Amino acid sequence: FMKRRKKWSRYPPGPMSLPFVGTMPYIDFHNPHLSFNKFHKKFGNIFSLQNCWTNLVVLNGYKTVKEALVHKAEDFADRPYFPAYEHIGYGDKSEGIVVARYGHVWKEIRKFTLSTLRDFGMGKKSLEERVTEEAGFLCSAIKAEEGRPFDLRFLVNNAVCNMICSIIYGGRFDYGDEVFRKMVALFENSLSEEAGFLTQFLNVMPILLRIPGLPQKVFRGQKAYMDFIDVLIQKHMETWNPEYTRDFTDAFLKEMSKGKEAEENGFNYNNLRLVTADLFAAGSDTTSTTLRWAFLYMLLHPETQSKIHKEIDMVIGRERSPTMMDQVNMPYTNAVIHEAQRCGDIAPVGLPHMTYRDTELQGYFIPKGTTVITNLSSVLKDESVWKKPNEFYPEHFLDVNGQFVKPEAFMPFSAGRRVCLGAQLARMELFIFFTTLLQQFTFMLPEDQPRPRTDGYFALIKCPHPFKLRAIPR
Ligand code: HEM
Repeated sequence: FMKRRKKWSRYPPGPMSLPFVGTMPYIDFHNPHLSFNKFHKKFGNIFSLQNCWTNLVVLNGYKTVKEALVHKAEDFADRPYFPAYEHIGYGDKSEGIVVARYGHVWKEIRKFTLSTLRDFGMGKKSLEERVTEEAGFLCSAIKAEEGRPFDLRFLVNNAVCNMICSIIYGGRFDYGDEVFRKMVALFENSLSEEAGFLTQFLNVMPILLRIPGLPQKVFRGQKAYMDFIDVLIQKHMETWNPEYTRDFTDAFLKEMSKGKEAEENGFNYNNLRLVTADLFAAGSDTTSTTLRWAFLYMLLHPETQSKIHKEIDMVIGRERSPTMMDQVNMPYTNAVIHEAQRCGDIAPVGLPHMTYRDTELQGYFIPKGTTVITNLSSVLKDESVWKKPNEFYPEHFLDVNGQFVKPEAFMPFSAGRRVCLGAQLARMELFIFFTTLLQQFTFMLPEDQPRPRTDGYFALIKCPHPFKLRAIPR
């Protein structure tokens, strides 16, 4: 590696690599963005690391991240290969979306998924109607807590998971439904397994996957979750009528029925299970964690909550349900939601990218096949853009006249070719769930609870530490 570094004379600088482990010991894997921020100060906007023998380049700050992801979009559009995932069914022409290599199959599947999500926004029951309906169920479940202290996490998770269920399987589940509870439990289990040190370590040391029995042991949770998805798809297939598309699964089955070419383009059974698993993984915890940050900030900033209550009463009133059309008339609420996303910073290091070809960035040479980490946290908290980068300050998104403005460095969904595919759905869920809940309740910190921490902990995404709140009907 040192030899290669010398050869690439303009390769980005970085801390000294140790034999075998590279720079891994310097990184706090519970807070990678904080370790990156230290190196950012020392080595500048672009620096290099080494995970065992994998070369990594970390991009920092708005200007650098935008230049790579937007101006050199294709150069940075690939994803690194994760050998460990083969053990849960990833293979040729079936890589899902999130970790799929950049190329023809990924493009086909991404295009199909985006247009199918869009189709549900038109005709039939629109996506917005579904979010509004779910927000109603969420409110009823919160009301049932009768003002007692409770952890919002489980109910919000249920609501957000139900949105993905509704898209994929055409219907929602009651929160108490046995099948639903099993699905959510299996899903959470598989996520925490994926976030675990062992899975991450096996991706940098794939040779260990040859140890007999180890993959089965390490991926037990993820396999159980995939088996469960198989059952749901099988049930769906039994009732499938090609004349009528009920949901995403039906639309995918229809593509699959088009024959060999469709199969080559990624429309095969194995990929259906991986794509749906990806939509759950990418679309549920992200949104529900953002909502939890938003409510945490409401507990810590009651004056902000009062201002939102006033805006809701003025624009929507107490009776009618909020709609996306209200957003333009609610600059303050909109600013608060954006600030919760910025400050909560749930995907501080985004998802790993990989260079698709040799490229240059700000005078540095980055060879093809280098893993690239976009330090989104350094963009959302870039001192040259945000007035109070480390504080919750909704005014970041308001102009002097109190109108909503969105600085370009607001990049929680990343940017470029691999920009979050569900951003539009996520924005809808955040606005409708947040506004509906605040229309119905005042959220308070229980007297006997300590003041919640605002630092969060990292497990694939940055989550708030558990906290309880009281929801008092308005
Ligand atoms: C990718 C953030 C909600 C589906 C991503 C990425 C980020 C992100 C940072 C990585 C982009 C990159 O590689 O540069 C978020 C946040 C969300 C959210 C903050 C909620 C607040 C959703 C939802 C869905 C979704 C609701 C689906 C319904 C995806 C998919 C990808 C992705 C499929 C992979 C795209 C690709 O590789 O082509 N998201 N996301 N996300 N997100 Fe989201």
